Amino acid sequence: MPGNKEKLMNIRLFKPYVGQEELDSIKDTFERGWIGLGAKVSELEQKWSNYIGGSFSLAVNSATAALHLAVTAFNFPRGKKVLVPAITFVSTANAALYNGLKPVFVDVDPITLQMDLCDLKKKYDNDCVAIIPVHLGGYPVDIENILDFAEDKGLKVIEDCAHCAGGEYKGKKLGTWGHIGCFSFEEKKLMTTGDGGMICSNDEEIIEKLKPYRWVGIDKDTWRRAIEFRDEANNDAYHWHYVISVLGYKYNMNDLAASIGLVQLKKLDYMNMTRSQHINLYLNKIKGLKEIKPLLPYNTERDVYWMFGVRTKRRDELIIYLKEKGISTGVHFYPLTLHPLFKNFYVPCKIAETVWKEFITLPLFVELTNEEIDYIAKVLYDFEG
Ligand SMILES: Cc1ncc(COP(=O)(O)O)c(C=O)c1O
Repeated sequence: MPGNKEKLMNIRLFKPYVGQEELDSIKDTFERGWIGLGAKVSELEQKWSNYIGGSFSLAVNSATAALHLAVTAFNFPRGKKVLVPAITFVSTANAALYNGLKPVFVDVDPITLQMDLCDLKKKYDNDCVAIIPVHLGGYPVDIENILDFAEDKGLKVIEDCAHCAGGEYKGKKLGTWGHIGCFSFEEKKLMTTGDGGMICSNDEEIIEKLKPYRWVGIDKDTWRRAIEFRDEANNDAYHWHYVISVLGYKYNMNDLAASIGLVQLKKLDYMNMTRSQHINLYLNKIKGLKEIKPLLPYNTERDVYWMFGVRTKRRDELIIYLKEKGISTGVHFYPLTLHPLFKNFYVPCKIAETVWKEFITLPLFVELTNEEIDYIAKVLYDFEG
């Protein structure tokens, strides 16, 4: 009956929370006439370090670049192994491959979906040099026990914090527990610079060492050279001179991206809190469902979450049903062990290879409305019938 026709929504999965303030900040950068690597990037690095507390930071153009360079920082001999979770985005494992190292896939805990410590210990051998734990979805890994194990075996720990900017564990920011923390500011993440990433470490030497690697190997980037040239007391005719001693990459963040990031950083806690409120509403609304259950044991008092998901045995059917009702979905993530790229590194990860079949990611972003969450919950109940 046309009168009863359900109002069809069109709800996105993720959406960046950007507006006039970011536009004003970009305008300011335009007016300064310096849009490449410059003062705004330095300012964001400084503010990010202050925000996460006591570490040193280096801004790059993605978390993929951050993870690549984080592994590069340790000069591991080629052919050694890096322990990574089986359920993560490809960049976590690619960081090993980019450095001529082998990824060793570790199974996940069936409830938290985080890297499983027992399986980590089983997969470890003397060729392992590092662990890249991922705080998947924003849920913190068992970082203290991972660090204890790493220390015992002499392994470096690089936290993949692509999903947990602003998150804490026992009052200390995620990304400051391991030797290096890597963050993503890609458009869908907790805060954005369009594309972007940050490398953080409590060890200043690591950050200093990586500076040329993000700027094609050049030891003195153009911004540093410009500062020296502008210094009236400096009459060095070789102010332009630089030295290339390492094979670097064009991985720098630029001032346009950083000008967005400076505004986003101010909003980050608010954005995280708002996403948590949305998750609380979701959890409250869907608690009567019988077969559809929350993806993670969400603890919104403690954590910040990048995504909200559910699990159901009828996953594919539900994806199509939600699509028909105008609700976007995703699956985070199909296990890396099942991708052709990693066939030579295949090791069984039984839990990861089973549980992913039930995952559905639902819409979560700052401007998601209570009405939209109500609607999504109602559609889930209708699906169960
Ligand atoms: C766990 C994880 N690590 C790394 C990345 C890479 O981030 P970026 O897109 O900034 O390169 C992503 C991106 O989705 C991710 O989910």
